[in-house]
Amino acid sequence: MDEQTSMANKLKAIDPSIDLVAEINRLRKEKNAVILAHYYQHPAIQDIADFVGDSLDLSRKAAATDADVIAFCGVKFMAEVAKILSPTKTVILPDMEAGCSLEDSCPADEFAEFRAKHPDHLSLTYINCSAAVKAHSDIIVTSSNAEAIIEQIPHDQPIIFAPDKYLGGYIARKTGRDMLLWDGSCIVHERFSERELIKLKAQNPDAPVVAHPECPKHILDHADHVGSTSSILSYVTTNPATDFIIATEPHIIHQMEKDAPGKNFIGAPGADGNCNCNMCPFMELNTMEKLYLCLRDLKPEITMDEDLRLKALAPLKKMLEMSPVKAKV
Ligand code: 13P
Ligand code: SF4
Repeated sequence: MDEQTSMANKLKAIDPSIDLVAEINRLRKEKNAVILAHYYQHPAIQDIADFVGDSLDLSRKAAATDADVIAFCGVKFMAEVAKILSPTKTVILPDMEAGCSLEDSCPADEFAEFRAKHPDHLSLTYINCSAAVKAHSDIIVTSSNAEAIIEQIPHDQPIIFAPDKYLGGYIARKTGRDMLLWDGSCIVHERFSERELIKLKAQNPDAPVVAHPECPKHILDHADHVGSTSSILSYVTTNPATDFIIATEPHIIHQMEKDAPGKNFIGAPGADGNCNCNMCPFMELNTMEKLYLCLRDLKPEITMDEDLRLKALAPLKKMLEMSPVKAKV
């Protein structure tokens, strides 16, 4: 039986009368597990997590935890980072199918070939990629530290940036660096409609627009603030405005409503003005039921060949060393 069929059977077999929150809390204690969640997770998962954060925060937490088990509620590349940084821990992911379109857009063999064609280039690689691509990279970056890391690299050093052409383009414009960009994108952030955003801005003239740098330039050009999920969150919390237009995955609005009660957050629309296309279909695969099952069975588990792990660890360590606030590995 394949893993997905076995998961479907296990889901069907869950007693509908059980209290999932109580069971997850019981299992977390029993297994000495920490639950880490990204801001794009379902609100119930964000609420039960020990820690909610962006990719950089979550990797730091994974590196520092003394729990035996890391239940990673995010997508697979994030759980892989947890395993690379904390190899002795059992790292579980509620649904192993939770991938990422950026990871998919950069197959490791094609990336290795591309690198071989540009041997003088340093590879700065966005954390949204497979462990195999990390293993072919020099330094990993996230949306919250990419700019600060690039500023530490000599200006005459040619750079490859993969796999997100939009984040790469944004950083290149901000730092004035001419980088060679891999042609990858996020299917969620590239769906926002500029036309609909302009309409929404006209209806809400006092609402600042915040956007994730995975959005294309034509969306970022309308933003008052561009930043990682945690940067966007801190902007809306501290900015005196009461209404905000949010151009990133809308599950983050749950955390915004918790951190800035009384403010109003309007999700930026897709092309038809009212679509669900800006929900991340990969993040959505994780549910409370699957979190319960993975804590109960300690499966699906992230496993990794040690040679690959060590190769992927080197550029991740560089990232943590070069990030503005250092973390221990
Ligand atoms: P952050 O690092 O800003 O949380 O972004 C992760 C991500 O996958 C955005 O789509
Ligand atoms: Fe990947 Fe985009 Fe989903 Fe982030 S929102 S996990 S980049 S597909």
